[in-house]
Amino acid sequence: MSFYGLPRKDLSGVMSGLQSVEDIYEKTDLSTFMHDNLVALMRNQHFFNDTPFTTAVIGNAENDRDTAKIWRLHTCCWAARTALALDGNFVECGTYKGFYASVIAQYLRFDTLQNKFYLFDTFEGLSPNWSSEKERIQADPGYEWDGTYDDVLNRFSIYSNFQVVKGVVPEVFDDVLPERIAFLHLDLNAAAAETAAAERLLPQLLDGAIVVLDDFGRQEQNDLCYAHLEWWGQQGQTILELPTGQGLVVYRQSY
Ligand SMILES: C[S@@+](CC[C@H](N)C(=O)[O-])C[C@H]1O[C@@H](n2cnc3c(N)ncnc32)[C@H](O)[C@@H]1O
Repeated sequence: MSFYGLPRKDLSGVMSGLQSVEDIYEKTDLSTFMHDNLVALMRNQHFFNDTPFTTAVIGNAENDRDTAKIWRLHTCCWAARTALALDGNFVECGTYKGFYASVIAQYLRFDTLQNKFYLFDTFEGLSPNWSSEKERIQADPGYEWDGTYDDVLNRFSIYSNFQVVKGVVPEVFDDVLPERIAFLHLDLNAAAAETAAAERLLPQLLDGAIVVLDDFGRQEQNDLCYAHLEWWGQQGQTILELPTGQGLVVYRQSY
């Protein structure tokens, strides 16, 4: 179980309550999913039967907090796999140590593909110019560790079609602008940076491109949610809010 957002003393009450729920369902052989602030009862969770997927998740996870994100990763892998039909490039804004990207790459066997995968990050945390004070306070201090860039370069050096780009989104697109984007993962945890990235990359999105917004549905990121609703709404696009906390856009140029 992986839950967060409440004071520790309240969380322990939540965990013991959820444990009782889990015990009741398990007694009758019914499924539960209780990870990553998501409680789902009696769902098929068919992604657990997809061995290449679970192997990629387990093989690339550093700890239980990573594996707890398995449903979010299922969304990302589905989106990335669907995007392959478009014959375009893949982009992630907000890579940190490269966990999501490494799962996607292994699952899709990126070493056998012609598509390019761009990874953008400051590798120094949120940019003060493109984030609010609240977002910076909420951010994981680990984002600022200065060894991450070299580790990520090393992690993806096995792929000739990955480009790891260190710089501030959206300004970095003045130097490296991905074209023909089929899959876009926005995971900057900063509303201004994510909507500015979407604005800069929009002309490069292919018709039918899949955009995953990692934090769209998370209550603690509600400023980011409203910023995306407004911005994508102005483009005539709608966002599907997923119970995982993600948002999903299937971009249509003709809207
Ligand atoms: C939630 S983490 C990304 C997690 C990652 N997708 C993974 O697979 O674990 C957010 C990252 O966004 C980066 N970031 C935030 N604002 C940024 C900006 N304006 N430009 C570039 N990187 C930024 C941070 O440095 C941090 O590494």
